[in-house]
Amino acid sequence: MNILLLGSGGREHALAWKMAASPLVDRLYCAPGNAGIGKEAELVGLDITDHAAVIGFCKSSKIDFVVVGPEAPLCAGIVDDLESAGFKTFGPSKAAAQLEGSKGFTKDLCRANGIPTAAYERFSEAEPAKAYVRRLGAPIVIKADGLAAGKGVVVAQTLAEAEAAIDMMFGGGLGDAGAEVVIEEFMVGEEASFFALCDGETAIALASAQDHKRVGDGDTGPNTGGMGAYSPAPVMTPEMTARTMDEIVRPTLRAMKQMGTPFKGVLFAGLMMTKDGPKLIEFNARFGDPETQALMLRLMSDLVPALIASRDGQLKNFDLRWYPDAALTVVMATNGYPGSYGKGSMIEGLDAAAEVEGVEIFHAGTKSDGGRIVANGGRVLNVSALGKTVAEAQARAYRAIDRINWPGGFCRRDIGWQAVQREIGG
Ligand code: AMP
Ligand code: GLY
Repeated sequence: MNILLLGSGGREHALAWKMAASPLVDRLYCAPGNAGIGKEAELVGLDITDHAAVIGFCKSSKIDFVVVGPEAPLCAGIVDDLESAGFKTFGPSKAAAQLEGSKGFTKDLCRANGIPTAAYERFSEAEPAKAYVRRLGAPIVIKADGLAAGKGVVVAQTLAEAEAAIDMMFGGGLGDAGAEVVIEEFMVGEEASFFALCDGETAIALASAQDHKRVGDGDTGPNTGGMGAYSPAPVMTPEMTARTMDEIVRPTLRAMKQMGTPFKGVLFAGLMMTKDGPKLIEFNARFGDPETQALMLRLMSDLVPALIASRDGQLKNFDLRWYPDAALTVVMATNGYPGSYGKGSMIEGLDAAAEVEGVEIFHAGTKSDGGRIVANGGRVLNVSALGKTVAEAQARAYRAIDRINWPGGFCRRDIGWQAVQREIGG
């Protein structure tokens, strides 16, 4: 079969790498892709916000199945448009993608269905929002309702910070995403990312991971899209996984089906493991980035039939196999990220780095320039490795990184520290 993958990040490179290994695939295309994806798939220079152009390409290239990576096209309804045009597509409909696209929608769904999450209220004006934070006190969390590329959440340590965040959001600081605001209780615990594959009715647990959102070693500095991840997350014991499926994932699927907007695709639950058990921080309606780069290394089964079963409503009795090994991915970013950064710096040594045992290098913001690889974004490379332990995967990933010659980039040196500390009994 012919598959079209949409997206251009490290997540999409990992998905392309995994799908390219499937015996079911004749031709794999990716739009718009990046230099690394170009080794696994034929790159197509499509503007994926132009749904008619995507449909036109599917027709002319006889595409049998489309896989959507990022949230923006999902929330823009690309699955609905492709399905209406007769193309089978992996991912949620626009209505079901509201689980990611509107935090207020998800919070209301949690409240109506007894799904554990932080206490909250929704606001569309600043004054009542400020009165609410004054009543609850700090720390408190202020969230823009809509998609804000990871910038829509302020964990306010003081009332002054909370009020400033409210003014920023209602003042248009995040555009339309901040026209409505959710204010919620501050939860204490360790975070984990949990992924379930859903077909509208059935959900199967995929795997867990832990992300590192801060830019600096020791979890310092500003938030980013993610500087590294590892899988599995030690806090997600079998008991916590079962509770997450029973208390969060399955009730959500039941509620979405009852509302006439069944959820198909990957349900990504950002969890806080509190003293009372797992509580939902937020849902995403897609695979995580960079978590997927670690997940795909651990997946033993063919990914393609699983994605098709999700689309076709056939996940009942479906089984996926995983390697018991740990996987870890370190993000290399352009100097300056997450602030402003330049483009076009040259990256050398990637072939030597990829020779380190257990290592795969997934590209994010890269471009091929006359046979050379140059940086073309903020997050640029995901140096990923499997190992018997997180410590081994970590050592392999950093051994590979030390073979990469890229003066224009940097990475954190401590990805996986919590798990490594646990492994050595620290
Ligand atoms: P989100 O974009 O919703 O995942 O939030 C970004 C980050 O803010 C999360 O990864 C948490 O570290 C933090 N956060 C969000 N909501 C809460 C909450 N209710 N309590 C504590 N921390 C939170
Ligand atoms: N790693 C977090 C995300 O994909 O949103």
